[in-house]
Amino acid sequence: MALFKPKPNVSVANAQLKIPDHIAIIMDGNGRWAKRRLMPRAAGHKTGMNTVKKIATAASDLGVKVLTLYAFSTENWSRPNDEVNFLMQLPVDFFSEFVPDLIKNNIRVQIIGNIDGLPQSTRKAVQNAIVQTAQGSGMILNFALNYGGQIEIVEATKKLAQQVADGKISPDDINGDLFSQALQTASLGELAAPDLMIRTSGELRLSNFMPYQAAYAELYFTNVLWPDFTADDLLQAVTAFTLRDRRFGGLNDKYESES
Ligand code: IPE
Ligand code: IPE
Ligand code: MG
Repeated sequence: MALFKPKPNVSVANAQLKIPDHIAIIMDGNGRWAKRRLMPRAAGHKTGMNTVKKIATAASDLGVKVLTLYAFSTENWSRPNDEVNFLMQLPVDFFSEFVPDLIKNNIRVQIIGNIDGLPQSTRKAVQNAIVQTAQGSGMILNFALNYGGQIEIVEATKKLAQQVADGKISPDDINGDLFSQALQTASLGELAAPDLMIRTSGELRLSNFMPYQAAYAELYFTNVLWPDFTADDLLQAVTAFTLRDRRFGGLNDKYESES
């Protein structure tokens, strides 16, 4: 994990932040942000899109390697048509405005979720952004779009079952590595598991977001609504992460050195 020297005005124990390799964010609270302002929900989504730009840049500046953003779940199709249509247009606007900045910041776009289930214009915008930013050697900006963690696991299981049926592998070959390779995060390799998972807006649940990959993620919940979330809030989450003691079922260094 990279060490990052914070700006002098940031108070962090040991004056050094541990930067998570992979941060995943459940961007929630757009609707409530708008409602509080007596604005239509779409206004919250639009402002939330600007937050995506700010936070992607901030995460890249911190040295995060993968930033996964939950933008649309497989359950979000159950919202009113108008809202779904607006949400499907957002990636088109986002990429047409922001791809030059992504390229400038060396950020590469990737997607998890069922891309084939998106309207054609959305799919095209996403595919173009992936191609246009493919040379980026810095942070991976991984959008979860039409993503559902349960269907991801079901589809991975089907893929492996098919390989068994075809005689390519035997059931005993199926292990954690092979299963990870069948998930939609396969291309992230070692970085597939988020180190830090953030949810905004005060909801205390995962809502079908990366249930397999988040097995050992540090969870961070904040009441801040996504459109209000700032680079400083991100830094606060990373500061909290820095102070966590990740044991992965083992013992921490302190106890190990005592024994
Ligand atoms: C998050 O904000 C964006 C998406 C789920 C697409 P919401 O739209 O869920 O906002 P709230 O939870 O209603 O405030
Ligand atoms: C989760 O938020 C999905 C995204 C942020 C894209 P929701 O607002 O859809 O989740 P629930 O319905 O509150 O669980
Ligand atoms: Mg919500």
